[in-house]
Amino acid sequence: MTLILGIETSCDETAASVVEDGRRVRSNVVWSQHELHSRYSGVVPELASRAHLERIAPVITQALEDAGVAIDVIDAVAVGNRPGLVGSLLVGVSAAKALAWALGKPLLGVDHIRAHLYAPHLRLPPAEATPELAYPALGLVVSGGHTSLYEVASPLEMTLLGRTIDDAVGEAYDKAAVILGVGYPGGPLLDKLAREAQARLPAGTKPDPALELPRSLLGPDSLDFSFSGLKTALLYKVRGTPTGRGAGASFERSAADLGPQRQGDLAASFQRAAVETLIIKLGRALDLLASRGRPSRSLLIGGGVSANSLLRTRVAELGAERRLAVGVPPMTFCLDNAAMIAGLAHHAFAAGRFDGLDLPVLATSSV
Ligand code: KG4
Ligand code: ZN
Repeated sequence: MTLILGIETSCDETAASVVEDGRRVRSNVVWSQHELHSRYSGVVPELASRAHLERIAPVITQALEDAGVAIDVIDAVAVGNRPGLVGSLLVGVSAAKALAWALGKPLLGVDHIRAHLYAPHLRLPPAEATPELAYPALGLVVSGGHTSLYEVASPLEMTLLGRTIDDAVGEAYDKAAVILGVGYPGGPLLDKLAREAQARLPAGTKPDPALELPRSLLGPDSLDFSFSGLKTALLYKVRGTPTGRGAGASFERSAADLGPQRQGDLAASFQRAAVETLIIKLGRALDLLASRGRPSRSLLIGGGVSANSLLRTRVAELGAERRLAVGVPPMTFCLDNAAMIAGLAHHAFAAGRFDGLDLPVLATSSV
């Protein structure tokens, strides 16, 4: 049995976890800073690093305690070292290095984006039954900073097929939530509004075409994404056509003029357009890989937006249509967490791919 302690501090969650044999999550502690940043409607990097510093030690202690393991029983220390806010990453990476050095255990640096795509493999006991997620797989990472498609050969090997050319889908959700006056954190709140509005529509009713928003697919074969046009189209639907440009633009209306029904209907319209775009691109990527003689055996989805209700439904439908196993993380492992770091690190550990105490922190992903 291998026990790995994982540490994650790339953005606004201070997290630690103990994972057994790469899958069985023995503890999962996540200390979210959402409240700290909510009044700024976004993450303030200096505040984030300071909060990580205050919380990292108690979070690690809690993770070991919840797992019921003494610190010297751990086989290795894994840490998310890229991508993220450098000041935030530095806190987790320094803690991991100090522990690995003091305990004389291997240190494993983990890429946060690769870890998101590993999250579908994680299980919280007693839910031991896991669907077989065979490789090669098609992977989609949908987070606040990334919207990327990968051909995934194994947990440690993946190749980029396409990515966003402007906003990430999570970022588009957060901006759309601001445009609709929904609050922070935008993604989950917008999802909830959209779901409620959709449920109000009598079964079989088509949505009002006047509220539909564009799906930006780029070229007919493109596997890249673009969400900035969708965001602007929503802005115009909410506030009317502007006169003037940039900071000097003035609008016919403000978000405060939206009634709750129209706010909900527009949230649902945004959600349909965003999710449908993701599903169309997944379909294109499956076709492309099959045409290259490398058909995918499963679909892996990860990142904060994989918590989205409509995306989870549509991905399950796509999997059923294409007869593919679908790996969507349990809700707890969609958002940033350290279990995905410790889980993926198990594979690097098994392969003897350790890092030295000179492990760097980097703002960008390796994939
Ligand atoms: O993976 P994550 O926790 O952090 C990054 O690595 O970026 O993703 C956070 C993103 C945010 O943009 C958040 O609004 C979005 O995921 N998100 C959602 C939902 N839950 C979180 N977006 C749409 N629907 C949700 N239910
Ligand atoms: Zn993330």
